[in-house]
Amino acid sequence: MHVNHMASGLAGSQILALAEEIKARLRAGHQVYNLTIGDFDPQLFPIPGPLREAIAAAYAAGETQYPASNGMPELRAAAAAYTRRRQGLDYSPEAFLVASGARPLIFAAYLTLINPGEKVIYPVPSWNNNFYTHIAQGSHVALATDPADNFLPTPEQVAPHLQEAGLLALCSPLNPAGTVFERNQLAGICELVLAENARRGPDAKPLYVLFDQIYGALTYGDTVHVDPVSLFPEMQPYTLYIDGMSKAFAATGVRVGWAFGPDGVIAKMRSLLAHAGAWAARPEQLASAAFLDDLQAVDTYLSGIREGLSRRLEAFFTGLQQMETQGLPVDVIPPQAALYLTVKIDLAGYRTPNGSLLQNGRDIYSYLLHEASVALVPFYAFGLPDDSPWFRLSVGTVAEAEIPGILARMQAALEKLGR
Ligand SMILES: Cc1ncc(COP(=O)(O)O)c(C=O)c1O
Repeated sequence: MHVNHMASGLAGSQILALAEEIKARLRAGHQVYNLTIGDFDPQLFPIPGPLREAIAAAYAAGETQYPASNGMPELRAAAAAYTRRRQGLDYSPEAFLVASGARPLIFAAYLTLINPGEKVIYPVPSWNNNFYTHIAQGSHVALATDPADNFLPTPEQVAPHLQEAGLLALCSPLNPAGTVFERNQLAGICELVLAENARRGPDAKPLYVLFDQIYGALTYGDTVHVDPVSLFPEMQPYTLYIDGMSKAFAATGVRVGWAFGPDGVIAKMRSLLAHAGAWAARPEQLASAAFLDDLQAVDTYLSGIREGLSRRLEAFFTGLQQMETQGLPVDVIPPQAALYLTVKIDLAGYRTPNGSLLQNGRDIYSYLLHEASVALVPFYAFGLPDDSPWFRLSVGTVAEAEIPGILARMQAALEKLGR
């Protein structure tokens, strides 16, 4: 088949490839505890009731024409107010652009900001930056981060690459690790971006920061979500934020996201997305606006979802820590945010009961799936090498009552391994 160079080089999602093996197990009649999905089971985490009702009411009221191409004014105003309340960031509704979830906005950001061949710096593990860089025909600068830094990049790692880069793509809280930037870590990176842009001068194309905070409302304990412009107002001309309803309100299928940032960038992204027609549906936009304006409903929902997710994350964290204490080859990073736990399952060099040697993330994934019926995502799916021993465990689709049983299965599978 003849397609263009971009399309022929576009790799498939590795998470989808892993899902094939899960589907095969399910078809064969096995039970699978599928902890690979970055989504919510609506039975466990339904969308907010007032949002659901407002969506139905908007359809009933005949709100079915085209929405405004930059988003319904009601939603842009509500998203601006929500952002001001949560982060103290003072952006006007005109600085907001709405689309059908965060993805089209990230896609548009890459296509708007990157020239073919221009450098895109992104840390790994991270979510999908490799695909977006490929689509925008950017040149990849993938920086491997360190578990000791919670898998978030440090100023020292970023510094050598900033000259001539077009974009620095950051995400906090981080998919896949469920960790957040420390204030000093992000501040150090912002200082480097400001220095680089000062060096380029006002007439040159600046280095932009794409700051994906889609999980920003889902932080636990004393974890604080920090962001570039709150730290340095001077970052405003260079920072493009990505946010939306999908994760904070368990509304991944509702498809409402927004970006906010410098006027000129937002205007071009708006034109690009208008050609793609990637608007959020008008009833969902109006309903999201009404919901976000209901401060009490938002706060009640957020405290509930945070509690539900953090209890699950803590239960897995404690259980895995106990396995580590018992000498099993696991390690786990304390959960800070989002729906993810980062687990190290270092089984390279071990042999399974039937004698096969485990060598890489794929082998470990398959062993846990077949022996424990538990599926986790190896970090190679997020850009780390095949032999990375780290995995993402997602809790959005797991019932709390199932967690002790899942841990017991994992433990039994690990105890069966030999050298
Ligand atoms: C970091 C990150 N950004 C954006 C998205 C996409 O969000 P949406 O479903 O609103 O397109 C995801 C989804 O998994 C994500 O993990």
